[in-house]
Amino acid sequence: MPSRPAVLVTRKLPDAVTKRLLVTYKARTNAEDNLYSAADLLAKAAGADALLPCPTDKLTAEVIDALPDSVRIISTFSVGHEHIDLDRARRRGIVVTNTPDVLTDATADIALLLILGAARRAHEGEAMVRQAGWGAWAPTGMLGIHVTGKRLGILGMGRIGQAVAQRARGFNMTIHYSNRRRLPAELEHGANYHASADEMLPNCDFLSINTPATPETYHFLDERRIGLLPDGAVVVNTARGTVVDDAALIAALKSGKLAAAGLDVFEGEPNINPAYRPLTNTFLLPHLGSATHETRNAMGFKCLDNLDAFFAGREPPDRVA
Ligand code: 8YV
Repeated sequence: MPSRPAVLVTRKLPDAVTKRLLVTYKARTNAEDNLYSAADLLAKAAGADALLPCPTDKLTAEVIDALPDSVRIISTFSVGHEHIDLDRARRRGIVVTNTPDVLTDATADIALLLILGAARRAHEGEAMVRQAGWGAWAPTGMLGIHVTGKRLGILGMGRIGQAVAQRARGFNMTIHYSNRRRLPAELEHGANYHASADEMLPNCDFLSINTPATPETYHFLDERRIGLLPDGAVVVNTARGTVVDDAALIAALKSGKLAAAGLDVFEGEPNINPAYRPLTNTFLLPHLGSATHETRNAMGFKCLDNLDAFFAGREPPDRVA
């Protein structure tokens, strides 16, 4: 084991994380927070023992194959790991870890913000106040969709899905979920399980997407499945943009099939499908799911816990490959 392993950190991390990193590791940091191309990353990885990347770094099969032999672990600053070719990493004997659990609450909070923001037209109201467009109060002004007591369908009932359900129960929402496996009763808290999304969708006044990006979930919410939702449903997504077929969602928002959408994640972000921007029935955020001081610190500390375990010869706690 190298005495002070060299870690290539691809993005600027919170100060507390960098401080702890520098105690144990020879860190190659990125104070300017530049985005590295694959070529930059490979050049900077020369002689590194570990990488600490983010989802903005695409660690494709080609990049993994071109990494120097010195790199033995990739500790990603994210729970999602679709930006890393895990099979290729396994084949090269490179360990990969992620940061589960610590971003569950922050991400579930944003899902509720999206539900409320999209349903109650928060962005339109905020713009009206800010731009001095607020006229006299009107009995029929700025009417939105009632949230309390409605049916919420959760697509993917993992840690974050369960945390969304917990919050939504505070709004007296009836929870439906579809997941590969049914949860044990003590985790279900009375939620209605559907073995297939097709069976769940007709029961969703609100649909929250909480399933990871995999080949199976690519464009999962397509025209056909949107058609199974009740007319006037609201869709929110805090998972990954690729789970949604943007063209189908945009068409449904334009036609009125769906009343609104709240989106924190987008396919190709930050270069989102531009057709979302002029739609007033979309409440749009720039991937803020885990963006709290506490959560980003905790994510960084988890990356370091995984590196510390690995370089001490122990099994890293959050190994995904
Ligand atoms: C973060 C996320 O913004 O962890 C994830 O998978 O999607 C987000 O919460 C991302 O990790 C940025 O590094």
